[in-house]
Amino acid sequence: MGRPFHAGHTPDVDLCIDFCGVRAPNPFWLASGPPTNSEYQVRRAFEAGWGGAVWKTISNEPIVNVSARYGGVDYDGRKLMGLNNIELITDRPLEVNLREIRNVKRAFPDRALFVSLMVESKRETWHEIVKRTEDAGADGIELNFGCPHGMSERGQGSAVGQVPDYTCMIVEWVKQVARTPVMVKLTPNITDIRAIGRAARRGGADALSLINTLNSIMGVDLDTLYPKPHVAGRGSHGGYCGPAVRPIALHMVSQIATDPQIGLPISGIGGIQAWPDAVEHMLLGATSVQVCTAVMHYGFRIIDHLIDGMKNWMRGKGFARPGDFMGKSAARIVDWGELDLNYKIVAEIDQTKCINCGLCYIACEDGCHQSIRIERVAVDEYLRRVGDAHAMGAGREAVAAHHRSAKVSAEGWHGRRIGSHGRPSADGAARVVADRAVGNGTRHSVEDRTFVSGTKQYVHGAGDGYVNVYTIKQDACVGCNMCALVCPAEGCITMREVPTGKPAMSWREYQELLAAGKIEPIQPPQHR
Ligand SMILES: Cc1cc2nc3c(=O)[nH]c(=O)nc-3n(C[C@H](O)[C@H](O)[C@H](O)COP(=O)(O)O)c2cc1C
Ligand code: SF4
Ligand code: SF4
Repeated sequence: MGRPFHAGHTPDVDLCIDFCGVRAPNPFWLASGPPTNSEYQVRRAFEAGWGGAVWKTISNEPIVNVSARYGGVDYDGRKLMGLNNIELITDRPLEVNLREIRNVKRAFPDRALFVSLMVESKRETWHEIVKRTEDAGADGIELNFGCPHGMSERGQGSAVGQVPDYTCMIVEWVKQVARTPVMVKLTPNITDIRAIGRAARRGGADALSLINTLNSIMGVDLDTLYPKPHVAGRGSHGGYCGPAVRPIALHMVSQIATDPQIGLPISGIGGIQAWPDAVEHMLLGATSVQVCTAVMHYGFRIIDHLIDGMKNWMRGKGFARPGDFMGKSAARIVDWGELDLNYKIVAEIDQTKCINCGLCYIACEDGCHQSIRIERVAVDEYLRRVGDAHAMGAGREAVAAHHRSAKVSAEGWHGRRIGSHGRPSADGAARVVADRAVGNGTRHSVEDRTFVSGTKQYVHGAGDGYVNVYTIKQDACVGCNMCALVCPAEGCITMREVPTGKPAMSWREYQELLAAGKIEPIQPPQHR
């Protein structure tokens, strides 16, 4: 719930950003990883329209990679909800990388080109690689203190980024020689990411990027009993990323953005695949965003969707440039203790949209707060309630459907849905559209409640001549959202604000009022 935001005008949109002094034509950058491994790739990405890139981590030491090195988690038919890798940093020679970085920067002077670095924890070694990278023309450097596998066992990557003192010390070393902005890439494999953000700031970092990958084991093959992915039958913990990690990344970005002791520009990374993902990172405090898995999955071409989508959204909201909305939602993330205990919402079911699948009922009855009523209603009575049974006429064969499976996907429902402009059903019976006015002023058709299979017209959700009708027990509903989350029918369950007539009161204020004897304890909700 809540009022949609609009800045009040529809401006021309410019996606240009300034990230700690480095300008880029848009905030979409490639994250350090396989897509930024070579000149060939970064050139193609820039030609496609990416605003910047962080070169795949380079080092002065030769690296050897293993095969296989990636594992994926699919979910409900969608590939790669999460991606895991046990890949190390670049396995290409330093000289080759530096030469290619120089070439790319010369060819694309308007793009932001950061280079990710990781070397052993020796001051001279860091000084040398920073100088060589900057000499190659990099706009800035990113310190990879986040890689959780392989390099961490060698005392690099997250082994540095998990210890505030090491982080601070190495940033200090780097800043002794760096002429370009130094961005520190943080690991999420830590209890409180702010401790490392603060350490990086103490060391003199100019910006932070987050998150790197999460430590993970992808699974075990139940046939071979090998871990996934495996290298000759054995596996290792690897870094997890992709859409599945976005909520974790958003939490950490907001933590860093709102920490008064940090105050550095943020490059948001983690699970960005579509433009709204990027907008979310930026609303919570990121200035630029970086993408890895989605490019590995779909290629550089997704930049068109990212740019067009963000621009359209900005126009719709009245934002002219990214700076107009960056961080706008960050301050809305507060401690739990600051939330208003007197704010109340309850669920509401729009019966004209309900497909009577019962998923909300099961979720609330078994898993939540027993606040949904189930009523067995005869089909005719149901149709009379939903539309106008008389207007349906004798030609309508409203036959109780044989039982629908409880697992109804929203797509399945809409796919089978009959449009409001009736066409003759297969058995030739003319359908009569029986509209009726509903509470919100929209008119719904009885035909919306029925569908045709073979020669018959059926009622959604009906069996044995009856339909299960679900309604919310509004007195018992605690407004947990669960029914709305499981409901497959778009817009069917909405959460409605119930005015309590009480002023906002946080947990802390509640404790104070209780202690002062100025308020009675809030009574727990009454369940079954
Ligand atoms: C195969 C693979 C290799 C990666 N290599 C690096 C790397 O060399 N340096 C680095 O800082 N991050 C590396 N990352 C992490 C990404 O830069 C990024 O932080 C992470 O994947 C989260 O973003 P995403 O959800 O868009 O993939 C790698 C990620 C993947 C999937
Ligand atoms: S919001 Fe929660 S408590 Fe209320 S009906 Fe839905 S699942 Fe039940
Ligand atoms: S989950 Fe949605 S569609 Fe299914 S019965 Fe509940 S309100 Fe209706």
